[in-house]
Amino acid sequence: MKKRITILTGAGMSAESGINTFRDAGGLWEGHDVMEVASPQGFARNPNLVLDFYNQRRKQLHEVSPNIAHRVLVELEDFFKVTIVTQNVDDLHERAGSSNVIHIHGELLKVRSTKNENVVLPWSNDLNLGDCCDEGHQLRPHIVWFGEAVPLLEEAAIATQNADIVIIIGTSMQVYPAASLIDYAQSRIPIYFVDPKPNVSRNNYDNLTVIAKTAVQGIPKLVTELIATIQEN
Ligand code: APR
Repeated sequence: MKKRITILTGAGMSAESGINTFRDAGGLWEGHDVMEVASPQGFARNPNLVLDFYNQRRKQLHEVSPNIAHRVLVELEDFFKVTIVTQNVDDLHERAGSSNVIHIHGELLKVRSTKNENVVLPWSNDLNLGDCCDEGHQLRPHIVWFGEAVPLLEEAAIATQNADIVIIIGTSMQVYPAASLIDYAQSRIPIYFVDPKPNVSRNNYDNLTVIAKTAVQGIPKLVTELIATIQEN
């Protein structure tokens, strides 16, 4: 049976594709009040502002592509059972070819009913007030906003708990419950943390390797090393 790798990715994974992170200089939250554009209260107060924010981010997807780090992660699938748990709402992992992606904060290319979270539709153009689903409910971005439940958290936690190797890439580890996923990893397994400004303390994890590099600088080498361990055995 193939060894299992669970890869937890954040905005830093897509930074070198040209998508701004949230909390770095010039990040997505600069110029925006998070609670105005990424909360149910903000949507209720000013739905047009929220729809415009996500319409702009959705449009940007047509201008960016997966970077080499997205692409080399796909190579792992020939040697390991790979699960990607991403906080990112872009589709770059899928476009690179990753086949098992859990979007715990939702997806820009999907929308859902404001009244029935199980009504989820693919969506690639602008979303406007008055766009409804068959049940006549206003549609909203299929994004987990601040203060909302994270429906796929359990699936993500199980994938982390069952992993033989965990790789964490490009996340500031500031948003919960996503940031708590690392604590589901078994204590004896190797954990790799790839981030130019790593926000994790080594003393909390026995087998933590911090690679203080960007995704494009650090992931290809790590993937080559992990595949070599399989080929040697
Ligand atoms: N390669 C790897 N990591 C990078 C790169 C890069 N090229 N550039 C920046 N980083 C790192 C930063 O050092 C930082 O640790 O990526 C991280 C980005 O952190 P955030 O902007 O906080 O993004 P993220 O951790 O994904 O945010 C989590 O917060 O706002 C919410 O829902 C939103 O999913 C998001 C969540």
